[in-house]
Amino acid sequence: MSDKKINVAMIGQGFMGRSHSNAWSQVNKFFDPPINSVLHTVYGMAAEKPNIFAEKWGWLHSSTDWESLVKSPEVGLVDIVTPNFMHSPPAKAAVAAGKPCSCEKPISATLTEAREMAEAAAKSKVDTFVWFVYRRAPAVAFAHQLVKQGAIGEIRHIRAVYLQDWADESVPFAWRFKKELAGSGSHGDLNAHIVDMTRFVAGLEIDTVCGAVAETFVKKRKIIEQDSGGGIVTDEKMRYMKEDAGSAKLGDVTVDDAVLFLVKYNNGAVGSYEAARQATGNQNYNGFEINGTKGSIKFNFEDMNHLQFYDATRPREIQGWTTIMCTHGGSHPYVANYWPDAHLIGYEHGFTSMAYDILLKLAGKTPTVPLPDFNDAYQTQRVLEAALVAANEKRWVKLDEIK
Ligand SMILES: NC(=O)c1ccc[n+]([C@@H]2O[C@H](COP(=O)([O-])OP(=O)(O)OC[C@H]3O[C@@H](n4cnc5c(N)ncnc54)[C@H](O)[C@@H]3O)[C@@H](O)[C@H]2O)c1
Repeated sequence: MSDKKINVAMIGQGFMGRSHSNAWSQVNKFFDPPINSVLHTVYGMAAEKPNIFAEKWGWLHSSTDWESLVKSPEVGLVDIVTPNFMHSPPAKAAVAAGKPCSCEKPISATLTEAREMAEAAAKSKVDTFVWFVYRRAPAVAFAHQLVKQGAIGEIRHIRAVYLQDWADESVPFAWRFKKELAGSGSHGDLNAHIVDMTRFVAGLEIDTVCGAVAETFVKKRKIIEQDSGGGIVTDEKMRYMKEDAGSAKLGDVTVDDAVLFLVKYNNGAVGSYEAARQATGNQNYNGFEINGTKGSIKFNFEDMNHLQFYDATRPREIQGWTTIMCTHGGSHPYVANYWPDAHLIGYEHGFTSMAYDILLKLAGKTPTVPLPDFNDAYQTQRVLEAALVAANEKRWVKLDEIK
């Protein structure tokens, strides 16, 4: 075990606060990072009682003052897990203080903030990271390696979807439904992931958005004291919402429920992206299909340990889809550090694997597969912006237009 340590300060303590707390504490156990993470301080709003969160999740200290925290000489890495409008202020403060910074996705609520974050990171030269965590599902990391080796030939066509069904009208108002706080709805939440994931796996850049639609189905939502806590709606909260249904005030939803768009890539390939929060029955269908001249791959996070591969170079009579269980430590990224073959891994492992790669990069070593930094996430944000312009102005949009 390394004797080097880095003190992590985590800004925010909601859904992602729990998953990152788990990752920063598990990474030193499952991996042997060159620098060990120390859960130093968690920031939360006073009403959230961050001292209780700190005790439960193993943080040494808690704080209700993020501005002092990010500048503290004791802090080595700032990790941001707040709503999208609250990414840019602590991120810019952290890099200005010369501290490496990891930030949840989408990189920010607006393109301007995303660009400013990328510029601030370039100026300060510190390492930055954005938690596009699905890159680290072993099947997705393996798909990236397969495509890089040429296993599917030249890519001609990509379909990417991220469909969820948690946002029916019974779900009350939360920051996710307000443009000033979230930037967009399903678009920044879900399309951000699949744009990043397909850029990562296919190694292609989107050149043109060839039309888009954006729609909001539920235009008003109940404002209740106890919000839905991001995407997590527990049985207890559902009971509370139903009891409160008659009396609650209504808030205007100012973000999309669904955004779909078509694209052309820089190699001439074509693609489509779909994000929806009311795609009933699709609870976390985060997937892609990538079709090339020699073969194809398919992935759906609801079955995250498997990758589908079609090898079109085999004799025609035996061609067919192969279901690869991506749990073999000798062949598939990350899994050697968890359990033996076919002892399946889950959602939280992606965060632990990303924490490991961040610690490798901070020690000057190469991560298992490439990590997205602020500039990379800004490029994804440009694609999202191009799709919104295409939807609003009902036209094709070249990425060169979007700065
Ligand atoms: N990588 C992923 O797969 C993934 C999954 C879910 C969410 N996210 C992203 O993580 C971020 C947080 O999402 P979440 O689901 O954890 O949200 P959440 O609502 O569960 O928690 C957000 C936390 O941020 C803090 N916060 C809230 N409002 C604040 C304010 N006004 N000022 C300061 N701090 C405030 C609080 O500590 C709160 O608990 C978002 O950017 C979201 O898009 C990423």
